[in-house]
Amino acid sequence: MQTVSRLDMLRTAVADLRRGGARLALVPTMGALHEGHLTLVREAKKRAERVVVSIFVNPTQFGPNEDLDAYPRVLDEDQRLLRAEGVDLLWAPTVGEMYPEGFASSISVRAVAMHFCGEARPGHFDGVATVVCKLFNQVLPDFAFFGEKDWQQLAVIRQMARDLNLGAPVADAIFGVGIVREPDGLAMSSRNRYLSAQERAAAATLPRAMRQAIARIEQGEPAGPALDALKAALTGAGFHQIDYAGLADAISLKPVDALGDRPVRLLVAARIGQTRLIDNMPLATPPSRED
Ligand code: PAF
Repeated sequence: MQTVSRLDMLRTAVADLRRGGARLALVPTMGALHEGHLTLVREAKKRAERVVVSIFVNPTQFGPNEDLDAYPRVLDEDQRLLRAEGVDLLWAPTVGEMYPEGFASSISVRAVAMHFCGEARPGHFDGVATVVCKLFNQVLPDFAFFGEKDWQQLAVIRQMARDLNLGAPVADAIFGVGIVREPDGLAMSSRNRYLSAQERAAAATLPRAMRQAIARIEQGEPAGPALDALKAALTGAGFHQIDYAGLADAISLKPVDALGDRPVRLLVAARIGQTRLIDNMPLATPPSRED
């Protein structure tokens, strides 16, 4: 596996990989790789002959008081994991290469980015959309793979690709891959490394309480009390801030307060200690009246 950190080297390496008509998949990441990322790589390998992974801790998607400086950077370990997966190329640009002196553009996606993380982390999705658009233009992959743990991020990226008529990958070639969970249900995340042993044990309350809330709502209880119980369970377990815990239309990401004909997801973001955890799960669509 070759690692490149300059754009000219990336272009040469990508041209080499494409020789003979090979298709290229991109897996964008911020590093500190775990089984969730490796699952993305494995899915990418099923679709494309060549796989490029990017590792870039993107400063523009972090707010002023967020964990940019503390974000884990473990390039050697990441390279070892990617080599073992048979990744062809690692694109690991510096901040200066990605945002050269005088950089002044930003992509702002509205609608799908309005609520949930868009509200809790102002500017976050502008940073994500901008860097992902740049990554797409730099690598020009046929396919791109993202984890569904960042459900809203995936919607933002698809919307951006559609709205800007991106040539590669086209919106339909942007794939979401299901959340990979620890045995106790906690969604894998690079930020789980921040958790103390005690916080890690308490963090398992998040998926458990989400499943309980979903079961109640699917059984016909109004969403309000079920979500209140979810929040109370999180607070009881030691989460000190709940950014949001709500139902959303799975496609438009508009908040909804009941199940209907369209797919709905439960989205939660909450903080325990210094760590902000997010998770999401689908709800079963109720049978239509004619069924
Ligand atoms: O999900 C991530 O790791 C990041 O938000 C992404 C998509 C690589 C953009 O920086």
